Amino acid sequence: MIQNFSSKKIVVLGDVMLDKYIFGSVDRISPEAPIPIVSVNRETFVPGGAANTASNITALSGKAFLIGVVGNDPAHDLLVRETNKNKINTDDIVVDSRKRTVQKIRVLGQSQQLLRIDYDDEEYIESSTEKKIISAMKNHSEIHAFVISDYAKGVITEEVMKEVHSFVESKKIPLIVDPKPQNRNWYQNATLITPNKKEAEGMLGRKISNAQDVERAGLELSEVLNAHILITMGEKGMSLFEKGQKPFHIPTEAREVYDVSGAGDTVVATVSLAISCGASLKEASILANRAAGIKVKKLGTAPVTAPELLASCS
Ligand SMILES: Nc1ncnc2c1ncn2[C@@H]1O[C@H](COP(=O)(O)OP(=O)(O)OP(=O)(O)O)[C@@H](O)[C@H]1O
Ligand SMILES: [Mg+2]
Repeated sequence: MIQNFSSKKIVVLGDVMLDKYIFGSVDRISPEAPIPIVSVNRETFVPGGAANTASNITALSGKAFLIGVVGNDPAHDLLVRETNKNKINTDDIVVDSRKRTVQKIRVLGQSQQLLRIDYDDEEYIESSTEKKIISAMKNHSEIHAFVISDYAKGVITEEVMKEVHSFVESKKIPLIVDPKPQNRNWYQNATLITPNKKEAEGMLGRKISNAQDVERAGLELSEVLNAHILITMGEKGMSLFEKGQKPFHIPTEAREVYDVSGAGDTVVATVSLAISCGASLKEASILANRAAGIKVKKLGTAPVTAPELLASCS
């Protein structure tokens, strides 16, 4: 199945972001305020949000077509440059001067994170931008799966989701949604929705405190949204709720954990490719859990590659 990933084309539509890392050393405290001074050694830029999900698809040898919105600002050039480096098609990145490119800047001194600076923009896109997004989507003919990567930064609107649903129906391809709670009702009838525990809590408006709560949450979401549900639970692994079937729990495989950020994007990329290859949802989830286990063991931001995933299966 993993060897077949290279023949699969997947559209990722959602909120693209730029992750910037500033690495430096700290030798003294500022005379201006009781804060450390970071003397900068180097900076790196990494595609984030929906662009990270797309990077995970290409690292797993699939083809990713990214649709998203950026501002008319310097961060957008960097995001396009870095995204292209990861062999992702960026022709459908729409520049909207009313928006700004979402950016997360992490400042590290001696490998320790000292500060995060967010440039956010949560305004929904206007209808002229919606139209560009929808027409970009309709230009794709031979694709095997469609991914919505919603970080609630404004690209996923009711109108966009309506068009996505009719597009995937006409193409008869699976729709996989990485959700945000506030947009819950727009995901109804998707193939698979993959909230983490916090997002599942937000979607239901109640806490999930134990295994029984997880089961109730998964069954209820699957029923209300008429979709299969995969709840990811960090160090507790994941639980799959297929419509009308008993819950299926998968414990995590990772023993040493270095960096859990972006593990959810690894899960979405892997299940989408596996489903495109005809895997059952259980098979796809087991493989995604395996990929996420490799991801959290990695130091740094590099996504899991197809050879790494293949090697872990032998
Ligand atoms: N601490 C951990 N130990 C082992 N495995 C982990 C850990 N954290 C995450 N994982 C693996 O990664 C998967 C996805 O993680 P998680 O539930 O944290 O997603 P997420 O919150 O959407 O992540 P992100 O938003 O950072 O991409 C889990 O189902 C599990 O397989
Ligand atoms: Mg997530």
